[in-house]
Amino acid sequence: MGLTSLPFDPFSVYLEKDKAVGVISKTALPVKGANPTDLKDAEATKGLMIHISKALGVNCTYCHNTRAFAEWDASTPQRVTAWHGIRLARDLNVNYLNPLRETFPANRLGPQGDAPKVNCATCHNGVYKPLFGVSLAKDYPSLKKPGAQQTAAEAPAQGI
Ligand code: HEC
Ligand code: HEC
Repeated sequence: MGLTSLPFDPFSVYLEKDKAVGVISKTALPVKGANPTDLKDAEATKGLMIHISKALGVNCTYCHNTRAFAEWDASTPQRVTAWHGIRLARDLNVNYLNPLRETFPANRLGPQGDAPKVNCATCHNGVYKPLFGVSLAKDYPSLKKPGAQQTAAEAPAQGI
């Protein structure tokens, strides 16, 4: 959680459960039910954003205009990909990894007995495109659509 003051685990709320990411309240004053965004949400959002930045090896401006973090119109196209990345990680955790819990040996389970999970670092490992965008499709021809031709983009990467 970096330098935030509250202990928090942003992964289970954002990358397993589908809590809305956000810090900006919709009303000026707390209105029961209508203004759910509080300091805790701000700290949790920050925790997730620090994770995303470290996992991709970038800083906030890779996705945001820091004058207006929430504003999609002022954000980069990469922020949209990251939005889908969050949904991708959730989908993998909820629909693929959690159901595999029973098939993992006990020593592969987490400290609370839960199944292993993915986060952004699982694939990105510190770079904005995993392996800087080297295509792995050529090594796994059996995963291709029958009859698909190799495209220029999938040809062995040069100069990397
Ligand atoms: C790789 C892209 C990416 C990077 C880097 C990134 N963010 Fe984000 N950020 C997003 C996305 C996507 C959302 C919206 C997520 C959603 O709605 O599910 C978001 C949401 C936010 C929000 C919530 C805005 C609101 O609606 O209230 C804040 C604040 C924020 N980011 C701050 C930061 C900070 C600070 C950093 C740097 C430490 C950072 N972000 C780095 C992609 C990124
Ligand atoms: C299952 C693997 C996997 C996971 C998990 C994953 N990504 Fe990715 N992501 C990729 C791959 C592969 C690419 C590159 C696609 C391409 O070649 O254009 C990519 C590309 C991106 C890009 C575009 C980079 C650019 O400059 O074009 C962003 C932004 C991104 N991911 C954000 C995220 C975030 C944020 C998370 C975590 C919430 C995440 N990803 C989790 C596999 C993953």
